[in-house]
Amino acid sequence: MPVPVGEIYGLINQEARGEGSVIAALEAVQSRYRYLPPEALLLASERFGLPLAQVYAVATFYNAFSLKPKGKHCLQVCLGTACHVRGSPRILERLETRLGLRAGGTTRDRRFTLETVNCLGACALGPIVVADGEYSGQMTVPKAETLVKRLLRAEAEVTHD
Ligand code: FES
Repeated sequence: MPVPVGEIYGLINQEARGEGSVIAALEAVQSRYRYLPPEALLLASERFGLPLAQVYAVATFYNAFSLKPKGKHCLQVCLGTACHVRGSPRILERLETRLGLRAGGTTRDRRFTLETVNCLGACALGPIVVADGEYSGQMTVPKAETLVKRLLRAEAEVTHD
């Protein structure tokens, strides 16, 4: 799919005109496209008059930014020690099978991205899965199944609306 360079420039320009920072400009692009295409880094570099390496450093420093296209729904499985000992690897395995992708990947239709994280700071609630920013604690394999079904159902409803 071609990158809409004009639209991306519009978002960056809007931040630059309003005294926004390069971070705010990248946030605007990330929030619209769910990742930062290379063109966004180039345009931000030009518009803010910063070296490309500096913009790249910002884009790779913050976890909120991704240089790879992400799915509409993002599932994160915590593999930190506390979650690991309580069974998060089994949950991850099931999600990988269910979605047909490996951790770190995105489905071809860009509906789902599956990621792993190392400790979300809520170990007492582990194992934890975060779905689109929403934390679910004491996760189990059947609960993970239900979670995916719910997201798929919601997707189907959007498609049929
Ligand atoms: S190990 Fe999962 S929240 Fe800490």
